[in-house]
Amino acid sequence: MSAGTSALERDWTNPLRDPRDKRLPRIAGPCGLVIFGVTGDLSRKKLMPAIYDLANRGLLPPGFALTGFARRDWETEDFGQVVYEAVKEHARTPFRQEVWDRLAEGFRFVQGSFDDDDAFDRLEQTVADLDRIRGTNGNHAFYLSIPPSAFPVVCKQLARSGLSSQQDEQWRRVVIEKPFGHDLQSARELNGIVNEVFPEDSVFRIDHYLGKETVQNILALRFANQLFEPIWNSHYVDHVQITMAEDIGLGGRAGYYDGIGAARDVIQNHLLQLLAFTAMEEPTSFSSDELRAEKTKVLNATRLVGPLDETTARGQYTGGWQGGELVRGLKEEEGFDPNSKTETYAAITCEVDTRRWAGVPFYLRTGKRLGRRVTEIAVMFKRAPHLPFDATMTEELGQNAFVIRVQPDEGVTMRFGSKVPGSQMEVRDVTMDFGYGTAFTEASPEAYERLILDVLLGEPSLFPVNQEVERSWEILDPVIEHWAAQEDGPDPYPAGSWGPESAERMLARTGRSWRRP
Ligand code: BG6
Repeated sequence: MSAGTSALERDWTNPLRDPRDKRLPRIAGPCGLVIFGVTGDLSRKKLMPAIYDLANRGLLPPGFALTGFARRDWETEDFGQVVYEAVKEHARTPFRQEVWDRLAEGFRFVQGSFDDDDAFDRLEQTVADLDRIRGTNGNHAFYLSIPPSAFPVVCKQLARSGLSSQQDEQWRRVVIEKPFGHDLQSARELNGIVNEVFPEDSVFRIDHYLGKETVQNILALRFANQLFEPIWNSHYVDHVQITMAEDIGLGGRAGYYDGIGAARDVIQNHLLQLLAFTAMEEPTSFSSDELRAEKTKVLNATRLVGPLDETTARGQYTGGWQGGELVRGLKEEEGFDPNSKTETYAAITCEVDTRRWAGVPFYLRTGKRLGRRVTEIAVMFKRAPHLPFDATMTEELGQNAFVIRVQPDEGVTMRFGSKVPGSQMEVRDVTMDFGYGTAFTEASPEAYERLILDVLLGEPSLFPVNQEVERSWEILDPVIEHWAAQEDGPDPYPAGSWGPESAERMLARTGRSWRRP
């Protein structure tokens, strides 16, 4: 060991390193995954590639099995071909034939519809065969990548066929994709149905934002450093802006999106989770119970600020030029009602009723067909209480800001004032930057890689518990009801812009403005 080697490096090279060392790669034990909804977009673009990437990184067990269940008249070979194409097109890591061949040996396909008892009995048989042939040991996860209206029937079938029951030392888990309900009441009903079949600790509700490195890094930034926490409160913070802007439109997604809208699609889940990570208190440990308890606590303290006419905004994109391309408005997109009142832009104002955050507004906004794709959390600081400068010297000085760049260009930016070089005194905003691309050589795994692995490992920290899901609906429901009661639909905004005028007014009423990321 050379002089100057840190304790960290010493441990790392020690072959007798403690297996509880959290830096070690975690590898799933013997198990299988069954996906319902394998013909869907999510499965093709995210789930199948993520499974391959996990296999490629050596994080799946040798006998891993992947079973697809769908109505299509497919054989296992056809299913394998679909997975192959999905992997070739969307996997993050390079294609390696030997990895693929080993993975593909564990593929199975069961054809059937959700109300078909025989199909579920065949699935049960398939899973039992896999235990014998592949050594999956009775450990299986069922991934419901299907519309919520189908959750009840699938859960009942899993119970009826015995697929949900676990013997000692074996596990059965269910993975549920969003949307988890469309309001508080429906979410409660769904939770009731799911919990009748699976105990809460076997239920993994996916919010893929929690699988993102940059979101998990909020915990590291806040709780591994001494630098930020002292100023992370209402004494110093003026307000917080959480933005999830997308440049894509909704072509091809009418079936899911029309009548749902931006608030239900992403504020109820992704944005309120970002708020929870930003505003929560420090958990005593990162055990799933303690982490989720802190998130639940902060969501319980989060409430809407009214009057909703002024503190919320909704919009719908119209046709226009975006990135040099002429694009359609929502009403002209295929499959959408030409009179659709579905919002593609939504913004709300919340406050967190805790001593730490009293009086600090949290502005949440999201939209499709906006100027740029960017998700960020911007913590905006109060101005210094006294500026011993002439007003002209600080005319170009904005608010100090701490910006967590969730994606793309993942990293953190700190903005503060600095003297412009020269004999005069003039202070202008400058930025200090951390970028994942330059600071680390490791590429970040896809969110779904992390989350699927966590399901197989039985590690629930990054999956919201039902209290969080229900509370998030409880926060949002009044906004959705308020909008539904209006005669007018959402305010139009041109594709490629930053949303409707009403969103600007929403902040302007308190003398603030949205960032233009
Ligand atoms: C999904 C929403 O949850 O997240 C989509 O349903 C949205 O409407 C997507 O486009 C965005 O995910 P990401 O990871 O690309 O930011």
